[in-house]
Amino acid sequence: FAFTPANLAWAEAQITKYPEGRQASAVIPLLWRAQEQEGWLSRPAMERVAAMLDMAYIRVLEVATFYFMFQLTPTGSIAHVQVCGTTSCMICGAEDLMAVCREKIAPKAHVLSGDGKFTWEEVECLGACANAPMAQIGKDYYEDLTAERFAEILDEMSEGRVPVPGPQNGRFAAEPKAGLT
Ligand code: FES
Repeated sequence: FAFTPANLAWAEAQITKYPEGRQASAVIPLLWRAQEQEGWLSRPAMERVAAMLDMAYIRVLEVATFYFMFQLTPTGSIAHVQVCGTTSCMICGAEDLMAVCREKIAPKAHVLSGDGKFTWEEVECLGACANAPMAQIGKDYYEDLTAERFAEILDEMSEGRVPVPGPQNGRFAAEPKAGLT
């Protein structure tokens, strides 16, 4: 693995933000940039980051496996889908969303869909509990989902469209009440 020249310059700039001997503090931004470059974090990418930060590979792997934002297996070319399965979302229909994933993407998490466009996984709370159930598709939150709307969104993305993120039930579509603007 090698960072592109632009990403290497960016990574080196991040490292200089931290005091001498504390370069390891840059591990998350460097891992994130490596993932942005390749779509996921391969072992060679993590080893490269470890070498740049004078860290043991196992320490970098500990960080990469702690956060859901890091993917250690190849992800879909259009998006990696993360369905929240924590309490609010589970009560409001997360299982139905995961059934859509099993049917439309792959029976198991972290497996590429037949066309290579999507992967999926269940994750813990993504902090949008008031708009449950929800899923993060790529970098965007899609909230107040039904199984039907979720399936539509995946279909639209598969066709190259980008559905408007956010609540999918018109929660914020109403005209503001007089005096509340
Ligand atoms: Fe799903 Fe918090 S429980 S976003």
